[in-house]
Parts: sequence; C-alpha cells; structure tokens
Amino acid sequence: MNTKNIPAQIEKSLGQLSLLALENSFNAVVITTGDVKNPIFVYVNAAFCAMTGYSRKDILGKNPKILQGSETDFNEIARLKECLNTGKHFHGATVNYKKDGSAYDVEWNISPIFDDEGKINYFVSFQKDITPQKELQRRNEELLIYQSKLASIGELMNSIAHQWKQPLNAISLAAQYMQMSLARNLDKTKLEEKISGIIRQTEFMNTTVTSFQNFLRPADLNTSFSPLRAINEILTLLKDDLTVNRIKVSCALETADISIKGSENEFKQVLLNLLTNARDAFNANNSGTEREIKISTLSKKGHLEIKITDNAGGISSSPIDKVFENSFSTKADKGTGIGLYIVKKILKRMKGDIAVENVGNGAQFTIVLPAYRE
Ligand SMILES: Nc1ncnc2c1ncn2[C@@H]1O[C@H](COP(=O)(O)OP(=O)(O)O)[C@@H](O)[C@H]1O
Ligand SMILES: [Mg+2]
Repeated sequence: MNTKNIPAQIEKSLGQLSLLALENSFNAVVITTGDVKNPIFVYVNAAFCAMTGYSRKDILGKNPKILQGSETDFNEIARLKECLNTGKHFHGATVNYKKDGSAYDVEWNISPIFDDEGKINYFVSFQKDITPQKELQRRNEELLIYQSKLASIGELMNSIAHQWKQPLNAISLAAQYMQMSLARNLDKTKLEEKISGIIRQTEFMNTTVTSFQNFLRPADLNTSFSPLRAINEILTLLKDDLTVNRIKVSCALETADISIKGSENEFKQVLLNLLTNARDAFNANNSGTEREIKISTLSKKGHLEIKITDNAGGISSSPIDKVFENSFSTKADKGTGIGLYIVKKILKRMKGDIAVENVGNGAQFTIVLPAYRE
C-alpha cells in the first residue's frame, strides 16, 4: 500500500480507521486465512452478514465453500484458485448461496496480504450483490432471444409459403380433374388415385403446420427433448428454402434415444440461425460449387456433439470468434448480428457451448451439450 501522501497523524490511526471503514462499508468485506487449499473465515463485516444471512458466529472458522452450490460457476472458482496460488489479485462473478439456501449473484475481488517475508498471511475480499443487475441482463437476453425468434418466424413463414404452393397446386389440379370427370363418365380408379393424392398432400401440409406450431410455442426451459427430432423438424420447415437455394443437406444422425434438457424451441432457434447463416454465405459468395450442409451428431460420455459444416467459403473475420459478438455482421443492412450472439447465449443456458472454425472450403460449427440416454 502506498502511504506516502497520507498525513502522519492519520497514518497513526489508520489501523483503527481501516477497521471502521471495513465495518461500515456498504460492500461485504471478508478476510480469510492465507491457506489457498483451506482458507478459513477470520473476519466478515456487517454488510456481509446482511447479504448472506449468516451471523459472524455462523461463519467464522468456516471455509468459503459454504457459500457455493449447484449454480456456482466452477470454472470461475478454478480461475480464482489459480490466481491465489500465484499470489495475484482476482476479480470475478458467480452465483453464491445465502444461509436460507436462496441464490444471489456476487461480484467479488480477492487480494493477498503478505507478511514481511513475502508469505501470504491473509486474503481480503470485497463482495457486492449484483443480483438486480444480473436480473436486468437476463431480462434483456430474454428480449433479444424473443426478437431473434420473431426474425426466425419470418424466415419460416417464407419457407412454408413456398413449400405450400406445390401441394396446393396439386390439390387444385386434382379437384379440377374431379369436377371435369363429374360431367363425363367417372373413372373410379382415376378418382381414387386423385383422392389419395389430395390426402397425401394435406398430410404433408399438416406436418409442416404442426412443426411450425410447435416452434411458435413459448420456450419451456426445463423440458427434456430429442435433439434428433428437433433437427428433423427444422429441416422439414426449411426444406423448400434450402431447395430453392440449391443447397443439399446431408445428415449423419445417430438413431439412438438421446435426450437433452432445456428448451426444445430455443434449440431449434440455434439450428435455424446456423442453417440460414450458411444459406446467406452461399448466396453472398455466389457459391457455384455443389452447395452442401452436413449435419452430424456424435454422442460422447454425457455429451452430444453436433457439427454443422458448409462449403460456402468460410469465415474471414479475425479472430474467428468475433462472429459470436453482439451486433457483428458482414451483411450490411441485411443482417442484425444478433443471431450467433443469441445462439451462444442459448447454448450456455443449456450448460453447453459452441465453437467455430474454418474447415475445407467452409465454416464448421461444433455444438456440445450435456445429453443422456433415455
Ligand atoms: N456459415 C457461415 N459462413 C460464413 N460466414 C458466416 C457463417 N455463419 C456466420 N457467418 C458470419 O458471422 C456473421 C454473424 O452472424 P449472425 O450473428 O447470425 O448475424 P447476421 O446473420 O445478422 O449477420 C455473419 O454476418 C457472417 O459474416
Ligand atoms: Mg444470422
């Protein structure tokens, strides 16, 4: 600590002043022993007790692990340990738990306090309850996901309108034929053929409409669903759009009974964003080679890996991860740049992740999600 500019009188009573400052701080203050492997609370201030519901009696002598729980970000805790092991200052955020078991978002920093020999004596930590800010952030995210869903609905409506033209034409032609046959001699076999045709076409239209209705349903975050069925439903909905754009989709999907926990419709939003981005890339590069999107799944221990690979020319932004940033788009006024930002948010919420790399003559997105067999 640099005390050069502090008047001598004040410096003398600094010990007492510091304690007063810690005691009356609006932020929670915690001091633990300097043992990285097993730090123990030796001081907590009143703001800490108010934030967590623990009294000093409850908490002194305990390990900070007492504050952790199922939603705690253990990557953040690992980063913290690494910092402390090397005697560095740490600054991070995670979810912690109060005495009554309720969760709160906390932002905290930790600094080592060294003794005269340079050994770590204590760790001092300043902590702030940032639940209201996080809640606002979560609500903004929800809004963005919703906006992105509206954009996807627009895309799908277009595809479905295209898709319905052909069966509607076929039904109309069949009806005209039947009308004409009524005036003449009815050929029963031909008539039956036409009626079967109409039934087939309406069944197909029904499938698309059901898939679309499923997608319109509000997101249910805690359902269990089959990712393979979700992939197939999205491909049904986008079929015509992909055909019109001369894109062949080849799938290598496992038939196994794999399930994922989370929102099926948000997962579909992820797929839609990736597929329509590939389509846009083919069109932007005016790719003449055989346009192909490959979708493959591979189940690993406790996880499902989904790869979506195109040959549309790849991603030129550097670093390539920039594509996941909010508002990053190379499509001028045709793009919003929220697609992949939302994709990442959705997958993170499902405790998964997504990465991208250029492979061959295109982009490859790899999704990893926790999965289990039914
Ligand atoms: N499959 C792909 N091939 C090439 N570039 C891609 C691909 N997917 C995404 N991108 C790039 O990432 C950017 C961000 O995508 P996204 O977040 O969906 O926003 P938007 O589609 O509105 O531009 C795109 O503008 C594009 O430059
Ligand atoms: Mg997009």
